[in-house]
Amino acid sequence: MSNNINEEINKRRTFAIISHPDAGKTTLTEKFLLYGGAINMAGSVKGKATAKHAVSDWMEIEKQRGISVTSSVLQFNYDNCCINILDTPGHQDFSEDTYRTLMAADSAVMVIDASKGVEAQTRKLFKVCTMRHIPIFTFINKMDRDAMDTFDLLDDIENNLGIATCPMNWPLGSGKNFKGIYDRHEGHIVTFADTQKGTKEGTENFIDLTDKEQIDAQIGEEAFEKLQNEIELLDGAGAEYDLDAVRAGELTPVFFGSALQNFGVEIFLSNFLKMATPPTGRTSKDGEVIDPLDHDFTAFVFKIQANMNKAHRDRVAFMRICSGRYDANMEVKHVQSGKVMRLSQPQQLMADERKILSEAYAGDIMGVFDPGIFSIGDTVCCPKDTVVYEGIPTFAPEHFARVRQVDTMKRKQFVKGITQIAQEGAIQIFQEFNMGLEEIIVGVVGVLQFDVLKFRLKSEYNVDIILENLPYEHIRWVENTDIDMSSLVGTSDMKKIKDMNDKPLLLFINEWSVGMTLDRNKGLVLSEFKKN
Ligand code: G4P
Repeated sequence: MSNNINEEINKRRTFAIISHPDAGKTTLTEKFLLYGGAINMAGSVKGKATAKHAVSDWMEIEKQRGISVTSSVLQFNYDNCCINILDTPGHQDFSEDTYRTLMAADSAVMVIDASKGVEAQTRKLFKVCTMRHIPIFTFINKMDRDAMDTFDLLDDIENNLGIATCPMNWPLGSGKNFKGIYDRHEGHIVTFADTQKGTKEGTENFIDLTDKEQIDAQIGEEAFEKLQNEIELLDGAGAEYDLDAVRAGELTPVFFGSALQNFGVEIFLSNFLKMATPPTGRTSKDGEVIDPLDHDFTAFVFKIQANMNKAHRDRVAFMRICSGRYDANMEVKHVQSGKVMRLSQPQQLMADERKILSEAYAGDIMGVFDPGIFSIGDTVCCPKDTVVYEGIPTFAPEHFARVRQVDTMKRKQFVKGITQIAQEGAIQIFQEFNMGLEEIIVGVVGVLQFDVLKFRLKSEYNVDIILENLPYEHIRWVENTDIDMSSLVGTSDMKKIKDMNDKPLLLFINEWSVGMTLDRNKGLVLSEFKKN
């Protein structure tokens, strides 16, 4: 591939930010964008006076409930890198969506509130990251507020998440006494003076450890002594910095700062960009690792979203480019259907702003107008190619409800709406085993998705529904292809259903019944995942 293409690909850094709600993900993203010149003033991402939402929140429900449901992509340039930030939904009920988004990221930034340590949602999202072994970089935020002891914070990450930590800098105090950080790599102290919220960056001052005069004036003897003791302890006990371990997802570099006051953000960003890898090779179904630099254009669909913009009433497939370069005149092959086509209106999406792309490179994400042919996990590549990427597994839903339509005259809109939302992967729909679409059972991973379904059917399809909760919590796909479902002997709490491809499934109230049913039907093979 030409040098120019290689250069472009090597500039790419594609990552997701994960955190517990309120830890400061939006504020940090906003400051990143500020450094990249993508926005002029911090605060324009999240209008304070208006609803609590960021540039990346576009759906009505997100604005109403103040939670991030969908994901979007922000691209900007900084320090000769082209950065793609993938926004992930903040609420745990959307962890399936997060998982898909993380499939498109090469690394993750984990934001932790210094006064709270690791919180429930951080733990859940972290688990999703470890499934992919991607590098994780930690930013401990809100140091301008009273923080937990620094060693305790590191222990908390190690014990709670099971990943070794390597502090790249060390905070001097917290809250009102937060003076700055000690940069372990540079061996100097960076102090900071309070900033004005918004455009102004904090005034940073660099102090050498031997500069007694400055240390006395700006830090004070006591705080300096404490720092020296802590560094000594750390040098003796902490994990050594090891870039290979970082890139293997076994060690997380830790940085401290305050996103709100804009301190420590740039140090974090520039170091992170040096440590994070450019796009890495992805494995195809045949086990071949597709090199981003040595292969023509390939991409996979990780997300489908309909009706993002009411004015457009469209459906967009989000693709992550895995190798090579895409240009607007190119014909591509959709591997699953065998169709060769031009992608329609490939665009970069930044909230509801859309920019038509004329070219894009491995590492980039593009949104493509989808006439209804793409499914999550599909591969798109050059026409002569035969690459197929591994699909994205579907999470087993844990909550089920029967869907009843209020106005049965609107049957057509109802079926269209619920089918489209299911194709996006937000919900899964099933039918009674011996019935058609008149009885629909919907399964979700998190209960909030029920609300989203109800809301979207109403606002996008003008259909009212009533959800009747069902007691099932366990779902199993029947893997045997030659099974006679009517002769299957189950337990009294078991329900036979089928998915939209007529594949048989079983629902159970408890795990015990799953084992019992397997015992009673020799040769029965049940799977927790739907293999795509
Ligand atoms: P999230 O996306 O992770 O949910 O968090 P977000 O950035 O929205 O931040 C949550 C709250 O924490 C916001 O306050 C934000 O201003 C504040 N915050 C973020 N970073 C820092 C920090 O470094 N120090 C301090 N002290 N606060 C921080 P809010 O009152 O909920 O919103 P707003 O009124 O400031 O918009």
